[in-house]
Amino acid sequence: MTMDSLLQQLQTYVIPTPGRAPIAFVRGEGMKLWDVEGRCYTDFLAGIAVCGLGHCHPKVVEAIQKQAATLMHTSNLYIIPPQMELAERLAGTCDLKRSFFANSGAEANEAAIKIARKYGRTHGGESKTRIIAAHNSFHGRTTGALAATGQPKYQSAFEPLIPGFTFVDYADAAAVARAMDDTVCAVLVEPIQGESGVRVPPDGYLTELRKLCDRYDALLMLDEVQTGLGRTGYWYGYMHDGAIPDVMTLAKSLGGGFPIGAALVNDRANVLVAGDHASTFGGNHLACAAANAALQAIAEEGMVENSRQVGAYALEQFRGLAAKHGQIRDVRGRGLMLGIEVSDESAQDLNKGLFARGYIANAIGTAVLRILPPLTVNREDVDGFVSALDDCLSAPR
Ligand SMILES: Cc1ncc(COP(=O)(O)O)c(C=O)c1O
Repeated sequence: MTMDSLLQQLQTYVIPTPGRAPIAFVRGEGMKLWDVEGRCYTDFLAGIAVCGLGHCHPKVVEAIQKQAATLMHTSNLYIIPPQMELAERLAGTCDLKRSFFANSGAEANEAAIKIARKYGRTHGGESKTRIIAAHNSFHGRTTGALAATGQPKYQSAFEPLIPGFTFVDYADAAAVARAMDDTVCAVLVEPIQGESGVRVPPDGYLTELRKLCDRYDALLMLDEVQTGLGRTGYWYGYMHDGAIPDVMTLAKSLGGGFPIGAALVNDRANVLVAGDHASTFGGNHLACAAANAALQAIAEEGMVENSRQVGAYALEQFRGLAAKHGQIRDVRGRGLMLGIEVSDESAQDLNKGLFARGYIANAIGTAVLRILPPLTVNREDVDGFVSALDDCLSAPR
């Protein structure tokens, strides 16, 4: 296997979406990744927030190996013991009690959309099926989740999308209030918008949405696919505001690197009954064994606390860089979900510069550098990253 042979296979046999960098990683351990040519990198992206425990966490690896050799899949026609354990574990981490398991974030959101529509129809008839979502949101690429994604650049080629979504400005509770009426069955937002540039809403935003949902008998649905499971310094993004949602979706780091998604509901949103919804692979033995081990490791190893503390340290260091480099317009985020906005369209160049210095991050467009390290990152790792970024910011363009 060489880079040339991989590029040849990519160009010949793989549908060219998404766009990819010509880089192939072949091994990972903790914060480290190695590429096909043997070069080592420090990972501040964690597979876009999937490898929250770092790469190949030994407890997750052991659980997968053991479960793979015991029983991988039987279908949801039967009780799946690791799924029962996972549902109980998840209930212990948040204010919602019941879970439906899927395989990805988009699929978790599909479940949420169906829950919203069924809730609305039950409570207000056919007219109560409208869902309010936010401009610049990201909820996934399947057609339902895409219909909820307020970004025409992802939607327009695939229209007509499923109807019934109203988009309002993010982080603006008054805009939701103006769009609200009795035809709304749910409000769906991310606690922090990730894919559109780490947009943090003002304090109290979710609390206001909670009140509006209560007033109009609508569900508050939070997409915590990216913000969930310790990423923002609390178990869930909603815990910053203390506004408890009716529905919450998870995926990304839930399986410690293994694909699994979930939609969680409280009693009010527990509307699906046998036959309403299903997923062949969703919550099978193997995926749930991985997720049980991941949740256990997050709790036992204090990763949520580490995310809060090291995240605050990183934010402070980035603010130090902003004071030194005029091209930094804004530094923002919570926990280990961080963004640095630049005013000179240099985000892609900075990302390439970091890569040349052995660090993996992510550029969103030309304006924002996104930083999502494993929750195990320490201050020395952050210092190394900050010093590499300082170097990139000082380099002539
Ligand atoms: C907030 C949010 N929701 C949903 C998704 C879609 O998840 P998936 O790619 O697993 O379908 C993403 C992916 O980036 C996301 O960030």
